[in-house]
Amino acid sequence: MRMYDLIEKKKHGEELSTEEIRETITSYTAGDIPDYQMSAMTMAVYFRGMSDREIFDLTETMATSGDTVDLSAFGDRSVDKHSTGGVGDKTTLIVTPIVAACGGAVAKMSGRGLGHTGGTVDKLESFPGFRTSLEPAEFIAQVERCGLAVIGQSADLAPADKKLYALRDVTATVDSIPLIASSIMSKKLAAGTHSIVLDVKCGSGAFMRGIDNAVTLAETMVRIGKAHGRNTAAVISNMDRPLGHAIGNASEVCEAMEVLRGAGPDDLREICLTLAAKMVALSCGLTDEQAKETVAETLKSGKALAKFREWIGEQGGDVAYVDDPSLFGEAAYTADVLAPVDGYILACNAEQIGTAAMVLGAGRQTKDSVIDPRAGIYLLKKPADEVKKGDVIARLYTEKADTLPHAEALTLGAVTFTDQPVEEQPLVYRVIS
Ligand code: URA
Repeated sequence: MRMYDLIEKKKHGEELSTEEIRETITSYTAGDIPDYQMSAMTMAVYFRGMSDREIFDLTETMATSGDTVDLSAFGDRSVDKHSTGGVGDKTTLIVTPIVAACGGAVAKMSGRGLGHTGGTVDKLESFPGFRTSLEPAEFIAQVERCGLAVIGQSADLAPADKKLYALRDVTATVDSIPLIASSIMSKKLAAGTHSIVLDVKCGSGAFMRGIDNAVTLAETMVRIGKAHGRNTAAVISNMDRPLGHAIGNASEVCEAMEVLRGAGPDDLREICLTLAAKMVALSCGLTDEQAKETVAETLKSGKALAKFREWIGEQGGDVAYVDDPSLFGEAAYTADVLAPVDGYILACNAEQIGTAAMVLGAGRQTKDSVIDPRAGIYLLKKPADEVKKGDVIARLYTEKADTLPHAEALTLGAVTFTDQPVEEQPLVYRVIS
């Protein structure tokens, strides 16, 4: 098999066989195929696409290219969620303790933030002492005791995807549905849970800008999961604007705890209840209606907050910060962004707000950047809100005063105004199961 011939085949839109896909990925991961040939192949896939069979084979090969997690001890109860990434997306912090308190076994690996999107692992590290790296036996034992553990992704999980993703990132081939679907699902399959709920974000802060592409991606991932014997469902949700008010690490943790205390922003609570109900339905064998009731009751009774506290303590975090969020403190410098006109907020570009938060120190410009847990943005006004000229629409927080002018310009540039009342957009577009 010559790589040249396979590139030629895909360039003309032909299907690659199972064997050809396996050999390509295995040889590339082993360093036997050069980056320039693999780049040509990913570009050919970008333009020509892949059949379902090719996508399943690619996913399977990447999923089994490294370690796989054995969660068979938890039977059908093991459950994971994945978000395709967004701005202000702190749903994992809320959803996972709700699901664990309802009886699901949540064994989850999460990522770090890069560019305009945040990462759960960075947010959890806002708690002094919180350990995001646990030995496999410790990880499983914690899920047995507490029903919930969240750790950083092991370097040996789906290494083929890691290498291929790094190549796609620099060759403009990230935004290909077959490649995104197989990349995400290879890691989810290797992570071993029986059920998987995918939060597919759609809009200005997401990979998928339009609803049609988001639906295609979600349906493709659900088919991959089911073909591998996993209960899989997807929720397509709005990422045309940031989720909730807080964007930043410690501030997102605080906002998540507000929801667990029964308050917090409506949009954040709604998406969390939707995701949690789907996870509980799949992992606890309930109907969607029963799961919704169970989840609402678990949140209302305080059991989800108690589970959150137990989880933070189990992983070494200081639970005094759960009891008293003011311990997180405030960044040294703040600046207010003011409405320049009377009117209504028409839109708030999520990607640009995420970039402004990154500039302030809440995110990483490169993989090696150091995060400042107290940096970030608090949005006081969101799309459809009425504003008067001079109202504070956003407050910026940073430890580096010299970042403020750039972040202020980005934040103001992200918001558009109109003199006409604005209709609220839906938050959850569709659930696919
Ligand atoms: N997230 C992933 O893990 N892979 C992709 O290809 C895109 C987003």
